[in-house]
Amino acid sequence: MKKAVITIFLACMYSGLLPFHLHAQANYVPSPENLQAREDFQNRRFGMFIHWGIYSILGDGEWVMHNEHISYQDYSRLAGLFYPYAFDAKQWVALAKAAGVKYITITSRHHDGFSMFATKASPYNVVDATPWHHDPLKDLAEECHKQGIKLFFYYSLLDWGRPDYGFGQPIVDGKPLHADWDHYIQFMKTQLTELLTQYGPIGGIWFDGEWERPDANWHLDEIYALIHRLQPQALIVNNHHHDPEPGQDFQEFEKDLPGGNSHGWNTGGVSKTLPLESCETMNNSWGFTLADHHFKSVKQIIHLLVNDAGRNANLLLNVGPMPDGRIQQEFVDTLLAVGKWMQTYGNTIYNTRAGIIPPQPWGVSTQANGVQYLHILDVPENGILFIPDVSQRLLSAEDFDHHQPIRFKQQAEGIFIYLDPSRVNPVDQILVLKFASAGNRSFRNPIMSKP
Ligand code: GLC
Repeated sequence: MKKAVITIFLACMYSGLLPFHLHAQANYVPSPENLQAREDFQNRRFGMFIHWGIYSILGDGEWVMHNEHISYQDYSRLAGLFYPYAFDAKQWVALAKAAGVKYITITSRHHDGFSMFATKASPYNVVDATPWHHDPLKDLAEECHKQGIKLFFYYSLLDWGRPDYGFGQPIVDGKPLHADWDHYIQFMKTQLTELLTQYGPIGGIWFDGEWERPDANWHLDEIYALIHRLQPQALIVNNHHHDPEPGQDFQEFEKDLPGGNSHGWNTGGVSKTLPLESCETMNNSWGFTLADHHFKSVKQIIHLLVNDAGRNANLLLNVGPMPDGRIQQEFVDTLLAVGKWMQTYGNTIYNTRAGIIPPQPWGVSTQANGVQYLHILDVPENGILFIPDVSQRLLSAEDFDHHQPIRFKQQAEGIFIYLDPSRVNPVDQILVLKFASAGNRSFRNPIMSKP
């Protein structure tokens, strides 16, 4: 019976009846280095996304070429104007560190097809095609290495301009009809080999754009295997908005907490085994956008970070540097304020996993070293917090800010916590909870805390 099912599955796969993404590194077994890197990745919890390219010159986001119908030829003239005299990798990394960020993910090549690194696979790159003649990823890799930050490369599968990609063409038998798909796949493999051999050990590769061609055969089995062979610890993520495929090392949620689907595109489930990451913007744009003033507040960003950690996920928070290489002051100010908060409260975020109390309407929990941190983001008006269905016995509850015991009552249906209204932290009221070990579950009679 089992054999018959496998035979039918293989027959479907080779006859093309199954979607091509199912071909992804089917028998992938992550290496010990990779498994360790996944733990390390989760411990870091807070990353900085950087969208930077020749599109930054126009100050209208990274989709400007497509949205404004600029031809490939006209758009490519931007390369001749790209001279970021104020770029300083040291400053970027120092800002990331001051913000409490532990890893950086930067666009190496976006959908516009322009490579922001030294590549022999195409002259359309930052070293050969700009008057700057400089590889910013090299500086960034060196600086990240020095300052203990992991560096990941974003890499677009989609390309709006290359003839071998054939943007807009119908996909027949997994390939664009009038384009040299095999050539394009080989081009990507060459570039990925460069990214994995020119910059020392990297955190991983962040793929994007597969959603543009769900029916194409992306040869992801070969591409993932290549990456894992060149750097076994490198983590692969693919922002394709569906369930993770074999060969991927963590799962992405674009502009959503895990399980959320606020824009209608995150339709997959939430992996129970892989690390998770949400990516978000600080205003409403990824690439530098002059007229976008919809800045999220410091509190909103802290809440994103906390809400992610309480769902066992990292937050990858985006900045879109300006064409001169500087990061706009609004972002800097907010990042520094978030960093200040992390200096005090970082122990409740870094190196934690989701706590035993699942997300509640008022907040979330994280845990580390046998301690549960309750993050109350929205304090109930009556100051009474109810935590339903807790099987472990609560031994103590303490206020993180003042180290004062907090009154509670545990009953079979849950725990009631009585907050002190004069001591509410308006950003995130954190309580430190200690529970008896899982074996000790007897609380048939209500348990009252002492104070
Ligand atoms: C989307 C956009 C892209 C952006 C990415 C970041 O896929 O197409 O421009 O880089 O989201 O998550």
